[in-house]
Amino acid sequence: MPRSRNEKDEIEKYMGLSKLAQVLSFLVVFVAGVVLGLVMSSHINQHFVSKTEVYSFINHFSTDGPGVKDENCTIVRDCGKAEDCLSMNALLRPKNLTHRLSDNELFWRASMVPQKEEYPYKRVPKVAFMFLTRGALPLLPLWERLFRGHEKLFSIYVHALPGYKLNVSTTSPFHRREIPSQHVSWGTVTLADAERRLLANALLDFSNERFVLLSESCIPVYNFSTIYNYLIGSTQSFVQAYDEPTRYGRGRYSRRMLPDIKLYQWRKGSQWFELNRALAVYIVSDTKYYTLFKKYCLPACYPDEHYLPTYINMFHGPLNSNRTVTWVNWSIGGPHPVTYGEANVTVDFIQAIRNNGTPCQYNTQTTSICYLFARKFAPSALEPLLNLSSSVMKF
Ligand SMILES: *[C@@H]1O[C@H](CO)[C@@H](O)[C@H](O)[C@H]1NC(C)=O
Ligand SMILES: *[C@@H]1O[C@H](CO)[C@@H](O)[C@H](O)[C@H]1NC(C)=O
Ligand SMILES: *[C@@H]1O[C@H](CO)[C@@H](O)[C@H](O)[C@H]1NC(C)=O
Ligand SMILES: *[C@@H]1O[C@H](CO)[C@@H](O)[C@H](O)[C@H]1NC(C)=O
Ligand SMILES: *[C@@H]1O[C@H](CO)[C@@H](O)[C@H](O)[C@H]1NC(C)=O
Ligand SMILES: *[C@@H]1O[C@H](CO)[C@@H](O)[C@H](O)[C@H]1NC(C)=O
Ligand SMILES: *[C@@H]1O[C@H](CO)[C@@H](O)[C@H](O)[C@H]1NC(C)=O
Ligand SMILES: *[C@@H]1O[C@H](CO)[C@@H](O)[C@H](O)[C@H]1NC(C)=O
Repeated sequence: MPRSRNEKDEIEKYMGLSKLAQVLSFLVVFVAGVVLGLVMSSHINQHFVSKTEVYSFINHFSTDGPGVKDENCTIVRDCGKAEDCLSMNALLRPKNLTHRLSDNELFWRASMVPQKEEYPYKRVPKVAFMFLTRGALPLLPLWERLFRGHEKLFSIYVHALPGYKLNVSTTSPFHRREIPSQHVSWGTVTLADAERRLLANALLDFSNERFVLLSESCIPVYNFSTIYNYLIGSTQSFVQAYDEPTRYGRGRYSRRMLPDIKLYQWRKGSQWFELNRALAVYIVSDTKYYTLFKKYCLPACYPDEHYLPTYINMFHGPLNSNRTVTWVNWSIGGPHPVTYGEANVTVDFIQAIRNNGTPCQYNTQTTSICYLFARKFAPSALEPLLNLSSSVMKF
């Protein structure tokens, strides 16, 4: 059966060939395996080497903790001592107001709002008193008297010249309350920057609920409990906002702000604001409108008199009372209000600021208390003010 032999031959030949193929493929697989193995092992080695580097880096970092020279490791060092890097205390309220955050970073952090409504701690709402000053606070003894005994209900923040340290005793509530500050040119956008910087630093303390801006020439005209209850109990903020159809109001509007800001939305108001927490978060979170003011509100337009009133009018009107709680006398005209010195401070004068007979709207009612603070007072006013604070202002 030649055919079958042939067939057999063929089969044998095939078998032989397939054997060869088998051997060859084994060989190929083997070689490929060896090559793959070599490559893999070199990778694994590298991997292990880098891992060990990471581990030794971490060990080095953590065991070195307290001795670290790098200034930037302050947090690690503090963590080591506190034994709890995720402590609520560190999150809720920075102990040290000094930090190296840029404004951009600071505003971002300050804009964070918890989604969960209930607080996991007993939150006592505080009033943040934010002082914007060029240097010393000449009326400081009056403020210290106001704050005495109410330590758990307020926080103080001071924006002065960069690096300026208030000369106060270590027991003063103003001790180490300066925030990282930058230069301010009055009438320019750097003034509004400083206000936002104060707000943002104060927002980092989750217990701060109301935020009041004050200057070195401001005084309180009511005692602490009255001020606290008035602000904490208010359903609205106190940012003066009005439409002034003159060159001092609408005249400062720039058509270059179109189409985002329209003339009918433009408002004017006192720089000395009082905000609740929700509104304060909106303010530090805004970039778009703030940038328009920075670009187009140039002298004789003053961002500190128009940005907040206009922005709040556009987006958060119902949250605002549109009036201010800081009294001032503009009746002499010109760019500066009346300044009161030693000879002007009398019982009748202070009484008239506290209650001048005109009612003000407060929540859904009316009240005889319109103003909690007043300006402008010269350093010489301090002595007579201290003299009558207990009899007239009840503190
Ligand atoms: C600390 O960090 C800042 C910015 O992150 C950097 O410029 C500075 O060089 C760091 N300082 C040290 C001592 O490493
Ligand atoms: C506060 O922090 C700054 C830098 O962030 C540091 O230089 C300073 O020593 C700290 N002050 C205290 C009392 O810890
Ligand atoms: C700080 O105040 C004290 C007492 O009020 C005064 O003696 C001292 O000279 C002041 N220091 C500076 C640098 O002004
Ligand atoms: C604070 O002042 C109000 C009146 O303005 C007064 O009724 C209250 O007793 C004063 N509180 C204290 C603690 O003196
Ligand atoms: C303040 O003005 C806004 C409009 O910007 C308005 O919605 C709000 O009701 C006003 N507030 C009061 C107390 O009149
Ligand atoms: C404001 O100041 C002027 C000028 O000193 C004075 O005549 C006026 O009575 C003051 N107004 C109030 C409300 O005190
Ligand atoms: C403050 O007192 C001085 C000195 O008596 C006086 O000249 C000035 O007019 C007074 N100012 C006000 C606003 O009453
Ligand atoms: C303080 O008040 C007393 C009387 O109440 C008065 O004799 C004294 O001159 C006042 N001092 C100042 C600086 O006003």
